[in-house]
Amino acid sequence: MEQLIYYDEEEEWSKALLLYNSALKEISTKLEILNNEFKLAHQYNPIEHITSRLKSAQSIARKMRIKQKELTVENIIRYINDVAGVRIICSFTSDIYRIADAITKQNDVTVLKIKDYLAHPKPNGYTSYHMIVSVPIFLSNDVIDTKVEIQIRTIAMDFWASLEHKIYYKFEGKAPEGIRDELRECANIISFLDQKMLSINESVQNYHKDFNGGTVIDDIDVNIDSISNSLKPLYGSIVTE
Ligand code: GTP
Ligand code: MG
Repeated sequence: MEQLIYYDEEEEWSKALLLYNSALKEISTKLEILNNEFKLAHQYNPIEHITSRLKSAQSIARKMRIKQKELTVENIIRYINDVAGVRIICSFTSDIYRIADAITKQNDVTVLKIKDYLAHPKPNGYTSYHMIVSVPIFLSNDVIDTKVEIQIRTIAMDFWASLEHKIYYKFEGKAPEGIRDELRECANIISFLDQKMLSINESVQNYHKDFNGGTVIDDIDVNIDSISNSLKPLYGSIVTE
């Protein structure tokens, strides 16, 4: 990362970056595993794609200015929750809660904060599910719980948010009322589109059930929980002959 903090804090900042970068890796691996499990169990992929990033020095400095805090490593760690950020893009709105739930259930993940802009969209029309979580990072002589911001949204929500972000910056946060109205209207169209896509997907699932003579699709799926019950303990033990 570019020059950010006072020279005497360079080493402390390098340690912080090591932790945030490791936390990104931990969360990304967890998500990849969940996605692979889901693919195996349901022949269906809830995650379209995942992006992750460390916040740029410029954005950190801007945020600290807005928060009117001195730019020190301690203040960055204390006041900025999204130095490490992961964005999960899903197909359907139902996947969002499914993924959030699966993350929450993991023993080593601590959920620090949730903002459900799906249930409560922002006045400008923004929707997404936000979580601030922490994961333990194991160092040689220490374990440090480290924060990551996770944003979960559909492809359509992501489309809206990236356009809105560009417009917001173009007008430095003061877009004309007409443009803001149009964006809100687009947010409504996107929300309608997501509902429509979800209901089409449900019809497709039901169609499969009918096609299979009423067999619930989950019954013929690989159920990871039940199938491997007898094998479960063997994965983590050594048998002495
Ligand atoms: P910051 O916005 O990060 O300072 O923190 P906050 O406490 O307001 O958190 P919030 O969860 O509301 O927003 C965190 C992140 O979500 C932002 O950094 C953006 O990436 C995204 N976000 C929030 N609101 C909007 C919005 O109105 N439009 C767009 N495009 N993105 C948003
Ligand atoms: Mg942010």
